[in-house]
Amino acid sequence: MSSEPLVLGIETSCDETGVGIVRGSTLLVDAVASSVEEHARFGGVVPEVASRAHLEAMVPTIERACSEAGVSLSDIDAFAVTAGPGLAGALLVGTASAKALAVALGKPIYAVNHLAGHVVVDELEHGPLPESAIGLLVSGGHSSLLLVHDDAQDITPLGATLDDAAGEAFDKVARLLDLPFPGGPHIDRVAREGNGAAIAFPRGLTASHDREEHEFDFSFSGLKTSVARWVAKEQAAGTSINVADVAASFQEAVVDVLTRKAVAACVAHDAQHLVIGGGVAANSRLRALAQERCDAAGITLRVPSPRLCTDNGAMIAAVGAKLVRQGAQPSTLDFPTTSVLPVSTVVVRDAG
Ligand code: KG4
Ligand code: ZN
Repeated sequence: MSSEPLVLGIETSCDETGVGIVRGSTLLVDAVASSVEEHARFGGVVPEVASRAHLEAMVPTIERACSEAGVSLSDIDAFAVTAGPGLAGALLVGTASAKALAVALGKPIYAVNHLAGHVVVDELEHGPLPESAIGLLVSGGHSSLLLVHDDAQDITPLGATLDDAAGEAFDKVARLLDLPFPGGPHIDRVAREGNGAAIAFPRGLTASHDREEHEFDFSFSGLKTSVARWVAKEQAAGTSINVADVAASFQEAVVDVLTRKAVAACVAHDAQHLVIGGGVAANSRLRALAQERCDAAGITLRVPSPRLCTDNGAMIAAVGAKLVRQGAQPSTLDFPTTSVLPVSTVVVRDAG
């Protein structure tokens, strides 16, 4: 048997109750219970509903994860849990559960950053991260370009969205097109039947005057407004809307900007690797265009499989296992949950 540490990770920052177990950097199980259907009719995640759903799902999801991995809780060497960023009440359910397990079983606990999890999860499938890489983090709440150094102990933001996150733009445009929530996977699916060059939607912050000040920042709210205006204009003219073309053209505008800026960041920082993480990294067109542009620029692209791009517990276990490997100090039990946690804080040590 391997002597590598067995780490259980708990993720509850939004609407997914995730429990993942890894041994070293080997994924054993990734159990997820989602409350997304309870939020769908509101067109967005309702924090109080999410917290209650986490409470109900927590114990069954932990039990399912242990049983599928063939381990018992007493075998676990360390616990890891998302301390932020995320919804305050939802985070509290996860951290309280993880603290209870750590105390009851007398094992260390690591309070980790959800955003670091979206990057580090790639190690479970593609091996150790390189010494230095550019990270493109694209989720429902965040869109940033990161400089990931020193075995992910040092994560520096290079730029971020000035308004909507990429996933938020997908969700809002899906709503305009009468597609269900969350809209990203539906736009991805519908766009396959459409023409991405049908409508020339704007590419935010790519004009030369923006590039100086906002070279690695993003803006998607102008794009969303542009899609809304286009749809309203066509409707007013009585024209029937080709949803597939609108979805494909919108998606093309988003992934064009994301991949263009990510490759430019690699070139500017002399990074040979690009790691993409977060829910939007599941997007098939983003994956294809990123591969094309990385190949052309001689950059190695790393993207987790779609299942590990959206929120899950394995990504948190992956960060925990990495911290154990690095000999990092565990968190003390008084660590707080932090709704707004900068990506540079990979682990929250204590209340101080
Ligand atoms: O990382 P994630 O699961 O949760 C957050 O931390 O926010 O990301 C969720 C976001 C949602 O906005 C969802 O629409 C988007 O990821 N998403 C996608 C796809 N799958 C999920 N966006 C585009 N294409 C997809 N295939
Ligand atoms: Zn996420």
